[in-house]
Amino acid sequence: MKRILVTGGTGYIGSHTVVELINNDFEVIIIDNLSNSQIDVLDGIEKITGTKPEFYNIDLADKTKTLDLLSQIKSIDAIIHFAAYKAVGESVSEPLKYYQNNLNSLMNIIEAMKTNNINSLVFSSSCTVYGQAKILPVTEQSPIIKADSPYGNTKQIAEEIIYDSIFADENLKGIALRYFNPIGAHESAEIGELPIGSPNNLVPFITQTAIGIREQLQVFGSDYNTTDGTAVRDYIHVVDLAKAHVIAISRLLENINKLDFEVFNLGTGVGNSVLEVINTFEDVTGEKLNYKIVERRAGDIEKVWADTSFANKELGWKTEKSLGEALLSAWVREKKYRGV
Ligand code: UD1
Repeated sequence: MKRILVTGGTGYIGSHTVVELINNDFEVIIIDNLSNSQIDVLDGIEKITGTKPEFYNIDLADKTKTLDLLSQIKSIDAIIHFAAYKAVGESVSEPLKYYQNNLNSLMNIIEAMKTNNINSLVFSSSCTVYGQAKILPVTEQSPIIKADSPYGNTKQIAEEIIYDSIFADENLKGIALRYFNPIGAHESAEIGELPIGSPNNLVPFITQTAIGIREQLQVFGSDYNTTDGTAVRDYIHVVDLAKAHVIAISRLLENINKLDFEVFNLGTGVGNSVLEVINTFEDVTGEKLNYKIVERRAGDIEKVWADTSFANKELGWKTEKSLGEALLSAWVREKKYRGV
């Protein structure tokens, strides 16, 4: 059984990926400092898979602790590094918090890989590296433009750190997965997206409004150059996204990667506007959403969606779940979590 260390494994994408790894006969070890997740996520993972992963709570930005822990955990075959801060707005007001956490943790992980002969790394990147692309859909070759936020910049710099580290070390190899907008929850509703505090992202805000925790959803901007004037994103079911990680890690472990450092877009290839998301949510759940159109949110781009042909062909992966299924799963999870 291959042993995979998953940093950020109790987080939203991390926990769904842990489930897929266990279901595909990997042994999982999680490191998470619970800064934006809760320990009982481990119980959800156990309910779904029958296995409770080994868990360590340390701060990966602490170099000594990280190197010590990784030398104690034996026989790690590969690492998936999710652990990072991800609130775009907060990163603008507290840039050093983002640079210190997101970059130091990555560098500490790579250093620990080198000392412990762990060669394979899968990294959580983001479509944010493309900014507002001139040509849509974006391919992996689309230009990387100056990031709009320190958060986005940490993803760009992180990819460079990984590239340079791999270039300098013949043993290391890695895959960066550029996520579009992950939404939804596991079909069991035992795990899901649970932002601490008021959600920044659209879908948790929708489900929390529908259940009555938030009074009203604000739709940020209706004057974009899109079909209905609201901004367009590529919303991907988190379970489809999680499955791509299993393929990426296997690709590295089985040595079928074509380059030492590869990059893949993970999206559906379809863009949907905010109003389309709201209408689909209302259709599939039968709930009526209280929403209001307000000014644009600072830093938002107008539209982005993925060209997924490279990931489809090279990884033999494509999304299977629709927007409606993803939104319904997020709603089922919200209700289960709130006991409704
Ligand atoms: C952004 C980044 C993504 C990053 C994520 C982390 C881009 C293109 N994407 O996603 O890489 O991982 O943040 O949080 O930079 N909206 C509303 N009302 C709300 C919330 C959102 O109308 O209450 C709208 C937004 O204006 C946007 C869409 O919904 O058009 C999606 O927003 P959100 O879920 O926050 O994700 P992004 O900003 O696209």
